[in-house]
Amino acid sequence: MTKPNYYITTPIYYVNGLPHAGSALTTITCDVLARYHRMIGFNSWLLTGTDENATKVQEAAAKAGMPPTSFVDGLASEFRSAWNSLHIDYDDFIRTSEPRHILACQRFFQELVDRGYVYLDSYEGWYSVSDETFYLDDKVKDGFAIETGKPVIRVTEQNYFFKLSAFSDRLLKYYEDHPEFLKPDQRKNEVIGFIKEGLRDMCITRTNKGWGIEVPGDSTRVIYVWFDALINYLAATGWPDAPDWSERWPAALHVMGKEIFVRFHATLWPAMLMALDLPLPGQVYAHGWWTARGLQGKLGKSTGGLPTPAQFNHLLMKKAGIDADTAADAQRYILCREMNFGHDTDFTMDNCLRRYNTDLANDLGNLLNRSINMLGKFLDGIVPGVPLAAENTDIPALAEVVCVEYAAAMEDIRPNQALEAVWRLVSRLNKYVDESAPWSVAKRRESDPTADAVLQTILYNCLESARIATVLIQPFMPHASIKMLAQLGIIPSDQPPTWTDTEWGGLQGGTRTQPPLPIFPRIQDLALTEDDQVAIGLVAEEQKTPKGDTKPVSQEVTASSNIDKGPADAELNSTAAEPLITIDDLMKVQLRVGEVLAAEPIPGASKLLRLTVQLGDDDTRTILAGIAEYYDAETLPGRQVIVVANLQPRKMRGIESQGMLLAADIDGKAVLLQPDSPVAPGAKVR
Ligand code: MSP
Repeated sequence: MTKPNYYITTPIYYVNGLPHAGSALTTITCDVLARYHRMIGFNSWLLTGTDENATKVQEAAAKAGMPPTSFVDGLASEFRSAWNSLHIDYDDFIRTSEPRHILACQRFFQELVDRGYVYLDSYEGWYSVSDETFYLDDKVKDGFAIETGKPVIRVTEQNYFFKLSAFSDRLLKYYEDHPEFLKPDQRKNEVIGFIKEGLRDMCITRTNKGWGIEVPGDSTRVIYVWFDALINYLAATGWPDAPDWSERWPAALHVMGKEIFVRFHATLWPAMLMALDLPLPGQVYAHGWWTARGLQGKLGKSTGGLPTPAQFNHLLMKKAGIDADTAADAQRYILCREMNFGHDTDFTMDNCLRRYNTDLANDLGNLLNRSINMLGKFLDGIVPGVPLAAENTDIPALAEVVCVEYAAAMEDIRPNQALEAVWRLVSRLNKYVDESAPWSVAKRRESDPTADAVLQTILYNCLESARIATVLIQPFMPHASIKMLAQLGIIPSDQPPTWTDTEWGGLQGGTRTQPPLPIFPRIQDLALTEDDQVAIGLVAEEQKTPKGDTKPVSQEVTASSNIDKGPADAELNSTAAEPLITIDDLMKVQLRVGEVLAAEPIPGASKLLRLTVQLGDDDTRTILAGIAEYYDAETLPGRQVIVVANLQPRKMRGIESQGMLLAADIDGKAVLLQPDSPVAPGAKVR
């Protein structure tokens, strides 16, 4: 049976600068989606490439003192190697300077002329080279585009126009008839608003200044770069002359950042396709931007403020002592997990490094390590057969639910939530190990004939869940997941896993596991030194503190920090030197073990969670804790915590907090303290 096609595209990137965490995010997302679709049985085809005919590219080449063709050749290969180093498995890389693209553009233009959609007129208005966008008078103030703040220049040119205004009604009807076409929904509303404001015909040529694709039959003009760039998606299928171009077209999905969604991908491109009676892509999706608080909310399109993939990789390699392939997978994971898809998200390197430690080194690493180590210690490193239900647990059912949630999040392009689902399984398993204490069960084996089956079940549940989690994270971390499967004793295959591999029971009895060498060793020192900051481009070499003053600088002191410590955080993070206290002072503090019964976010308080904590049979408290950034509310119920039980109640956000949780401060991140093994809620801590 032939597999259905899944043709997915990234935007093509301007080659006036290096790739960075913004372009990397779009590209990684597309690669993850392509791999996921391959896993669920599609014939995925990923296109990326470079946008080379822009005026700003010509200007950047002039600034570099290079002929534009060698300048773009150099940068196009930088993009290729950046994507290769990030394990982007693209099927095609199109450059808009290639003959196949030039031919497609000129044919497209000519067809529009032949169908009467193009006319010559004079254009007088504004043009922003930085945005490569035409602006009308009312969209410009004091020489800058109001929307983007970029400088504009006055242009008066005889140009060709595309009759875009003729498509308003057809576009609106199309959006209505195809509710999945524009995503996410809030951005669709922006598009509808934009069209309802009144679509004008669009200027689609510029005066030929020696760079760009010539208008067919008119060498005095070149095709406007956006008009040319959008056609890459079609050109890469072989349109118009390859006999099989329509086997690939239409694309299933175009992914891009929000700033190039409304005007270009959601309006101009579908109208261009409608004009030639070509089918429209299945979906056009816009993600938000990496932002930095304090820097007017936006990081520049140049790499300003954002590391390049190579800088990010080197930092991870240095901090964690890992190789380039592992660092690349970690970078893919971190960017996908940190970005709140569909919205803008603050980017800080502190958060990225913390994410590495909590999710990869701690949660995932622990699960794999403990499970394999215990198997070695108690069952000679050999996986038991699928066990009898000696130990009735929620684990297989949870694994199934997690797979369903993961798939729903991927279909809806919420990769961060797909990962959250997987980590719910990982966290639950770490807790399950604590609760079921396999080491105690192992001790009981001599006296209790049922203990062996219980032990086998516990260890099977751990290893099988680790295997399923590994399969689910394969689209995100293709290299590390192979290493993880190998540690679980699964011989690497040249075929990536399929969705069937997520079914419970795939791990065969008799499998011999391998030594669990840590794949993501913990970063011991999260603080970013000045040299680190220079290495990731946050601080220019010349801005370094003069030699002799070696004070480490955390990125938190920069404007890009998103750590806005609320009152509860401040309590958790206090490290100021205090005067010594007497034993009597200490005895005044009543510490008790509590069990979290419920946890929920507090609307409008992004740092706080509201917890219901049981401190004994008849003592249930409401406690507000500043841990929302570090713990998902749903992972907390059932967890044991240490509570300061005699703290004066305090109102925050109108809710009375009746105690405080103890947490370790690991580089500004709160890590909750809990008893070594489960104890009765209410027990005193001495
Ligand atoms: N060449 C056009 C696209 C033409 S597609 C037919 C272009 N190129 S770009 O290089 O400027 O941007 C490409 C992508 O990088 C966009 O999706 C953009 O949103 C993304 N990012 C650039 N900076 C970004 C952030 N700070 N944050 C997230 N992504 C951003 O536009």
